[in-house]
Amino acid sequence: MLAGKKILLGITGGIAAYKTPLLIRELIKAGAEVQVVMSRAAQQFVTPLTLATLSRREVITEMFPDASANASHRWTQHIDLALWADVMFIAPATAHTIAKITHGFADDMLTTLVLALRCPLALAPTMDVDMFLNRTTQMNIDALKGTGCFVIDPDEGELASGLAGPGRLPETDKLLAFIDDILEKVHQDLTGKHVLVTAGPTQEPIDPVRYIGNRSSGKMGFAVAAAASLRGAQATLISGPVALKTPRNVHRIDVRTAREMQAATLARFEKADVVIMTAAVADYAVVNPAHEKIKREQQSGNELTLTLTKNPDILKSLGEKKTHQILVGFALETHNGVAYAQEKLQRKNLDVIVLNNPNEEGAGFNTDTNIVSILTPDGKVEQLPRKSKFDVANMILDRVKMKLTWSV
Ligand code: CTP
Repeated sequence: MLAGKKILLGITGGIAAYKTPLLIRELIKAGAEVQVVMSRAAQQFVTPLTLATLSRREVITEMFPDASANASHRWTQHIDLALWADVMFIAPATAHTIAKITHGFADDMLTTLVLALRCPLALAPTMDVDMFLNRTTQMNIDALKGTGCFVIDPDEGELASGLAGPGRLPETDKLLAFIDDILEKVHQDLTGKHVLVTAGPTQEPIDPVRYIGNRSSGKMGFAVAAAASLRGAQATLISGPVALKTPRNVHRIDVRTAREMQAATLARFEKADVVIMTAAVADYAVVNPAHEKIKREQQSGNELTLTLTKNPDILKSLGEKKTHQILVGFALETHNGVAYAQEKLQRKNLDVIVLNNPNEEGAGFNTDTNIVSILTPDGKVEQLPRKSKFDVANMILDRVKMKLTWSV
């Protein structure tokens, strides 16, 4: 879950701040981006330079930095960062910071960010045992839990004061698992919906060892299935031959030919709420593929002729059958993209079509990013900048979600 995630790490002034360099190193190793924000007191325990080096980003310590010193500092930075993050985690979270957050104070960058957040907030209360067990601290923690804040209990053991009890910052592995868990749980806005996704190429056999195929890697479809599942949907992925791992909690069905893909899709269409066809379905199949390997020396002359027949258009057949389903198609176009995509949207009776051009740098086959436009029947064309396929998947799901009907 941590890979590619944006984490705002708030560090406040407790002795356990000295453990945060290790946490940052592990988050970065797991593929997360980490933006550290420190309170003034935290800087007494660990230096911003150490944390900037490990997080590979400038550490934010001031609400009003010298604007002339660094052009990246803008006075709306607290809003930008709050929108940027997937989760904000404050570790260690002192009794003082917890109290400020509970009551909505915004007297430094860290607490101001907390107020502006749209993503989940998580805390690791870490302090001496009596401060932790103090009734006010406990009331504040309970109040924050009540507002949906995630709190990890401190570990028990020997504390810096020499006393023993709850108050220690949990081990790094536990903190990582905690954040991972939150990222998985949040944003479950597709719970109860069944999302059917097709992915990858199809292969049309010529003989037992050869086939007609295409360069689709399946990455876009796998990202859609993963994103749908993380958002709480029941995700089924019908995949052509690809070299990708099945995303967690996704039901995968492997197929080879367009006809197999059509059969697998049709069998599950009725129960689906959303169908997203990212598959690069071969438009033609070989008529009567050879049962034995075609031998080079047995062919006369320099040419081999294959007779092809049109494959069914799976998406079009779904468009004709659809009742309540939201249908999303992809259009891969090298020229006249918008016009061709609009025509496909209508011809196949779709709710959304996602247009991309494989010739653009950072788009198309086997890349981890994509550059797409999202088109809808009302004539709207949204051009998105280059994004990871996972982010593109979520943006498609955002559009789909608006079109779904929800029973209350
Ligand atoms: N598609 C399908 N069945 C096919 C061909 C395509 O279901 N036999 C789906 C694809 O999964 C995609 C959409 O239709 O979601 C558009 O695919 P594309 O290949 O761009 O369009 P085609 O209709 O095949 O038109 P053309 O190849 O002429 O551009």
